[in-house]
Amino acid sequence: MEYALQVKDLSKTFILQKRMNHVLKNISFSIEKGEMVAIMGPSGSGKSTLLYSVSGMDRPTAGDVYLENKKITDLNEKELAQIRLQSMGFIFQQMHMLKNLSIRDNILLPAYEASKNKEMRVQKDQYCQELMKKLDITEIGDNDVTQVSGGQLQRACICRSLMNQPAILFADEPTGALNKSASEEVMKELNKLNHQGITIMLVTHDMKVASKCSRILYIVDGNINGELVFDQFEDTRQTQGEFVEGEVLKLREKRLSQWLNDMGW
Ligand SMILES: Nc1ncnc2c1ncn2[C@@H]1O[C@H](COP(=O)(O)OP(=O)(O)OP(=O)(O)O)[C@@H](O)[C@H]1O
Ligand SMILES: [Mg+2]
Repeated sequence: MEYALQVKDLSKTFILQKRMNHVLKNISFSIEKGEMVAIMGPSGSGKSTLLYSVSGMDRPTAGDVYLENKKITDLNEKELAQIRLQSMGFIFQQMHMLKNLSIRDNILLPAYEASKNKEMRVQKDQYCQELMKKLDITEIGDNDVTQVSGGQLQRACICRSLMNQPAILFADEPTGALNKSASEEVMKELNKLNHQGITIMLVTHDMKVASKCSRILYIVDGNINGELVFDQFEDTRQTQGEFVEGEVLKLREKRLSQWLNDMGW
C-alpha cells in the first residue's frame, strides 16, 4: 500500500488569553495515493485546523505527519516551505489572488517562485497555457481578478495549485462560495484530476461535493468519529476510471445522507 499522507497522534492546541483550546485531539489516519478524501463535521469541529496542520500551513502541537513516507513535522521552516511549494497544491479561500495581477500572472506566481532560471520559466509559461486551456479559462487570462466569475476564479485557483505538479492537493471548502453550476464545474475538474492520479484531501459542508469523493472522515470536537468508504457498498466497476455519475451518485447521496444523520449532522 502506498501512502500519500500518514498522520499519527496529531494534536493542536491554541492558547488564547491563557486559556487552552484543544482543537485536535490525538488524530491518526492515512490517505492512500490516488484517494479523494472529504473531511466533514460541524462548524468549529477542527476541519480547517486539521487541513492546515497536516499541510504544513501551521505547526501541530504534537504528533507526526508523513508526506509520501517523508516525515515533514520535524523539518525547519525553509525545508517545509520547499516541500509545500514542490509537492503540495492548495485551494484555500483565504489565499486570495492578488488584485493588481492578471489571472495568468496569479497562476504563474508559485511556479516562478519554484523556477530558478529562464528556461524553466518558459516551460512553466507553456504549462500554464495548457492548464488554462484544460480548465477552460484561456480567454480570461488577461483579466483582473475582479473581472471574472466565481467559478472562473476558483478554476484559476485550481490551475495555480497545479503549476508545480503536486502529489497531493488540499482544498478548504473549494465550492463554498460558489453557486450550483460553478460548484459542479469545479467538482468535475477535481474529479478529473483525481482520476489522473492526484491525491485530494478536501473539507466540505456540501453533501454533493462529499458524495463525489471516495471516502469521508467525520470530525466532532477534534476527534475522527466516523468513516464512510463508498466502494464498500457499491459496484466499483461502475466508478473505476470514470466520473461518478447518474445512478451511482444518487445512491451515494442517499447513503451519505443516512450516514450523516447517524453521525448527528
Ligand atoms: N489561529 C487560531 N487561534 C486560536 N483559535 C483558533 C485558531 N484557528 C482556529 N481556532 C479555533 O479552533 C476551533 C476549530 O476551528 P476550525 O477553523 O478548524 O473549525 P472548522 O471545523 O473548520 O469550522 P468551519 O466549518 O466553521 O469552517 C475553533 O474553536 C476556533 O475558534
Ligand atoms: Mg473551516
